[in-house]
Amino acid sequence: MSLNQQAIHLRHREGSEGTRYVAIASGKGGVGKTLLSINIGRCLADSGNSVLIIDADFGLSNVHLMLGLTPQKNLTHFFYGDATFDDIIVKVRDNLSFISSGNGISELAKLPRDQVLNLVRRLQELAEDNYDYVIFDTPPGIHDDTLTVVSSSDFPIILTTPEPTAVADAYALIKIINRESGVEDFYLVVNKVEGDREGIKVYESVRILAEKYTRARISYLGSIRYRKTLIRKIIDQDPFDSGLTDDVYNILTKMDMDLIKPKRGFWNRILSGLFGK
Ligand SMILES: Nc1ncnc2c1ncn2[C@@H]1O[C@H](COP(=O)(O)OP(=O)(O)O)[C@@H](O)[C@H]1O
Ligand SMILES: [Mg+2]
Repeated sequence: MSLNQQAIHLRHREGSEGTRYVAIASGKGGVGKTLLSINIGRCLADSGNSVLIIDADFGLSNVHLMLGLTPQKNLTHFFYGDATFDDIIVKVRDNLSFISSGNGISELAKLPRDQVLNLVRRLQELAEDNYDYVIFDTPPGIHDDTLTVVSSSDFPIILTTPEPTAVADAYALIKIINRESGVEDFYLVVNKVEGDREGIKVYESVRILAEKYTRARISYLGSIRYRKTLIRKIIDQDPFDSGLTDDVYNILTKMDMDLIKPKRGFWNRILSGLFGK
């Protein structure tokens, strides 16, 4: 176990206060949300935490494709009583599993309210009894599921690349979530950079806009280098790489799991997101 891994491991155990919910969102698609979700999950799992990834990007659901694991059933089957937890939880490696969300979390809103309450409480029990971290890979852009999950989470991570269109869309997403849901703290990661200086520059531009036009506060978690070799690995359904792992550990260290306590009430916030305030 590396020092980095140990640090994160200890951090969670000492300050253990229940499950933490991390949402990974972006304005633009293709910026690396799925890659980051899987790698944050893996690094936390390798550090001794029990982790569940929920692939909530139902339109472009591809956590399973990146991992080369195909679930037979998903969260939508569970919502309609056609699957149990055992049917939908796919084990990736020790301490790391994922669930595919099927048609998405908003699907719940179509069901009768008491049934939704029951299903959400069962999901809550599953998460609280078994996992230190639940990580949501969300749909890009301004989607109901993204707004609900991001505004309910303890750690809303916004991912962008240095491309101006991705940066503009990241800022737009922050602005809308801040305005619609009152979320004030966001965490920015910049992917596909040449070096961290490029990441800091992107962060500064988003921070200045957010300070001027919104009530959002943005913290910088760091950057991930563009690595040509990753594409081959993704094709081979083995989306891990030692350089990438180092970048992700740096990001996790900055998330400072101990300082930012879980807000609690994640599932209650999901319910109010589904049913309106
Ligand atoms: N740091 C990186 N270096 C090189 N290629 C990357 C990197 N991050 C992502 N990619 C490429 O971008 C593609 C999209 O990533 P993905 O995680 O699927 O994005 P999203 O989930 O945001 O749509 C990947 O298939 C991969 O080819
Ligand atoms: Mg994706």
